[in-house]
Amino acid sequence: MKPFKYGCVVTGDAFCPRPALQKALVGNIRDGQNVVLVGERRMGKTSLVYAAHAALSKWRMLYVDLLNVRTTADVCNRAATAAAAMGSSTSFADRALRFIGRLRPTFSVDPQTGSPVVSVDARTAEDPRSLDDVMSLVSDLSRGGKFFVVFDEFQEIRKIDAGDQLLAVLRSRIQLLQDTCFVFSGSVRDAIADIFSNPASPFFKSAFALTVGPVPDDDYAPFLIRRFALGQRKADRAFVDRIFDFTGRTTGDVQQFCSAVWNASDPGDVLDDAAFKAALADIFAQESGAFEGQTASLTRFQFKTLVAVARHGGRNVFSREFLNRSELPSAAAASRALGALSAKGLLFLHLGEYKFFNPFLRAWLLSNGY
Ligand SMILES: Nc1ncnc2c1ncn2[C@@H]1O[C@H](COP(=O)(O)OP(=O)(O)O)[C@@H](O)[C@H]1O
Ligand SMILES: [Mg+2]
Repeated sequence: MKPFKYGCVVTGDAFCPRPALQKALVGNIRDGQNVVLVGERRMGKTSLVYAAHAALSKWRMLYVDLLNVRTTADVCNRAATAAAAMGSSTSFADRALRFIGRLRPTFSVDPQTGSPVVSVDARTAEDPRSLDDVMSLVSDLSRGGKFFVVFDEFQEIRKIDAGDQLLAVLRSRIQLLQDTCFVFSGSVRDAIADIFSNPASPFFKSAFALTVGPVPDDDYAPFLIRRFALGQRKADRAFVDRIFDFTGRTTGDVQQFCSAVWNASDPGDVLDDAAFKAALADIFAQESGAFEGQTASLTRFQFKTLVAVARHGGRNVFSREFLNRSELPSAAAASRALGALSAKGLLFLHLGEYKFFNPFLRAWLLSNGY
C-alpha cells in the first residue's frame, strides 16, 4: 500500500494532523459560527473539512462542492444531490418533493459511484429564487441539530450570471439559520476574500476567516518520515526539508513528490540525493507530455516570460532588469504575457509575486536548460 496520496481528499492515517486548524474549525462548527476557509489550491481545505467532520461524532455534514458550477440549476443540483447523499433515499424523495417539487426534480443513481443524483428542471431553475426552495430543504435537514453545511469552492458562484442574486438569496437564508454553521471554502485567494471582505457584498463580515496554509514543517516532517518508514525507506529531516523547499510547501505537491520518491525507491533504501533526483525524473516522466502541450500553445513572448519567472522569480516583473532578462520590449508586453499565462493557469499572482501553479513545471523548464 502506498503511503502517500495526492489528487484526492485524504482521510484517516493519510491525513497529517493539523491540530490548531482542526481545533479552530471544530470549535466554530459546534458554536454555529460561520467560517470561511481561505487557501491556495491543494493546500488541504477539503481534507480539513472532512477531518473536522470525523472528529464530530454523530454530526451530519451537508457537503456541497461548487467547483465548475455555471448556472443556477447547477447550484441547485449540487446542493440537492448533496442532501440526497445524506439520508435514506425514501425519506429524501418525500422531502425533496415537498420543498423542491416546483423545480421538477428527477432522481437517478450515478452508475460509477452508486450515489444518488438529483437534477432539477433547468428551465424552471433559471430563476435565482429556485435556490430559495433548495435552501428550504437544507433548513429542514438542519432540524434536530448537530448539522453543518459546507460550500466548497464557494467563489465559483460568482462566475454565474445571476451570481450576485444567488449570494443574496443564500445570505438571507443563512442568517435565519442562526444555530447552523456554514463553512465556505475557496481556492482563489482574492476572489473568495472579496465575497467576505467587500462592504458591497451581502456576505460582508459574516464569517470567521481561517487561513489554510502549508502544514507547519515541524508537524509535517515527522509525519512524512514515519510514512516513509512504513515501507522501510529511511528519510531524515534534511531530506524532507529539501522537498519542502523544492515544492514551495503546497501540501498536495509535497505529497506528489513523496509519492514519486516512493515509486523510485525500494525497501531498505536510505533516501539521499540520488533518490531525490530519481523522484524528479519520475515526475517529469509522468508530466512531460502535459508540460510540452502547455508550453507549445504559448507565444514566443509568453514562453520567454514564463522562463524568466522560472529563473528569476516572479517579483518586480515590470522592472527594467526583468524586461531585459526576458527580452521583452515593454512593461505592457510583459503585462499582456503575464495576463495570458495567468489565464492559462500556469502562473498566479499572490501578494505581488507571480508564482508557478505547478512547481514541477518550473523545475522542468530549468532542467531543460531554457
Ligand atoms: N493534512 C494533510 N495530510 C496529508 N496530505 C494532505 C493534507 N492535506 C492535504 N493533503 C494533500 O493535498 C492534496 C489536496 O488536498 P485537498 O484537501 O483536496 O486540498 P484543497 O481542498 O485545498 O484543494 C491531497 O490530495 C493530499 O495529497
Ligand atoms: Mg478542495
